Amino acid sequence: MKNLNALSIRYSEGELWILDQTLLPHKEVWIEIKKTEDMIEAIKKLKVRGAPLIGVAAALALAKLATDGANESEFLRAAKELRDSRPTAVNLMYAIDQLIKFDYSVEAVVAKAEQLFLEDVDLCERMARNGEKFISDGDNILTHCNTGGLATAGIGTALGVIKKAFDSGKKIHVYVDETRPLLQGGRLTTWELENYGIPYTLICDNMAANIMAQGKINSIFVGADRIAANGDFANKTGTYNLAVLAKYHGVPFYCVAPYTTIDFECVSGDDIPIEMRESSEVRGVKGNFGQIEWAPKGGSVYNPAFDVTPKKLVTAWILDRSVEVSTEGKLVNFVKSK
Ligand code: MRU
Repeated sequence: MKNLNALSIRYSEGELWILDQTLLPHKEVWIEIKKTEDMIEAIKKLKVRGAPLIGVAAALALAKLATDGANESEFLRAAKELRDSRPTAVNLMYAIDQLIKFDYSVEAVVAKAEQLFLEDVDLCERMARNGEKFISDGDNILTHCNTGGLATAGIGTALGVIKKAFDSGKKIHVYVDETRPLLQGGRLTTWELENYGIPYTLICDNMAANIMAQGKINSIFVGADRIAANGDFANKTGTYNLAVLAKYHGVPFYCVAPYTTIDFECVSGDDIPIEMRESSEVRGVKGNFGQIEWAPKGGSVYNPAFDVTPKKLVTAWILDRSVEVSTEGKLVNFVKSK
């Protein structure tokens, strides 16, 4: 059994702790995950979030359950409940499938869960190395949601690329979309960038067109929750807006994700299940600062957590094992790279 430490998850000797991301950036509170239900609640409430991290977190929760003495049917029931806790990020389903595909034993489950954690760290490094060359000294980069160490077991996907460029000495500046309604950009990406000392400017999502029109953005880097076989991908709502704006303004638009985010069962973006969330998230806002609702109580609300960006708007997919470039809307070698 290993000691595994990431920015927002810690696991050792069957003990599992998560950093409650709903309380960031002002409060750093670690919560102990004692039961599978605790992890399911944490995933649903976005205390643990980000596609790769929820896969790893679910795997570690199952490792803990096995260590605590669950029998096979209890283990499989918990695996199913975890798998159903959020529908869009396919990393979650991938991780669970890895844990249930062999004969049940505590040793095998623990070893596989630990391997998934360590693999994710490595995948982040690979994406960062592959993507860093698309960032030049002096660039202004726009990003959406949080795709860093808080969203993975490693340095992140899109934010990992940005961090790698900064760490290699490039003087860069990041525009951070606040990412309504749950403010992963305004609360979490800013927190990470502050900690890394990377210069940034926070903007409201609806200011992106304006700064692109002013020629302030050299490139856009985003993550993904599920990439379909044809290259369409789901990511935090608002990503598609950026892709359309990027096309109009001639700004390169990069999707950064590990192979664990690719779903070859989804032929196109139309097949990706999109999570719908509570109307209160759009009627107002909730956080460690309190809760407020400004819209009429009974009014109609539309709150999909993700949108789908069509492949023709993507300049390149920066993956762990390759960079796939799109030429005039056609994808080169995407499927072959898997
Ligand atoms: O709802 P969230 O916060 O889990 O959504 C996260 C995102 O949309 C990220 O961009 C995506 O998971 C890629 S992160 C490595």
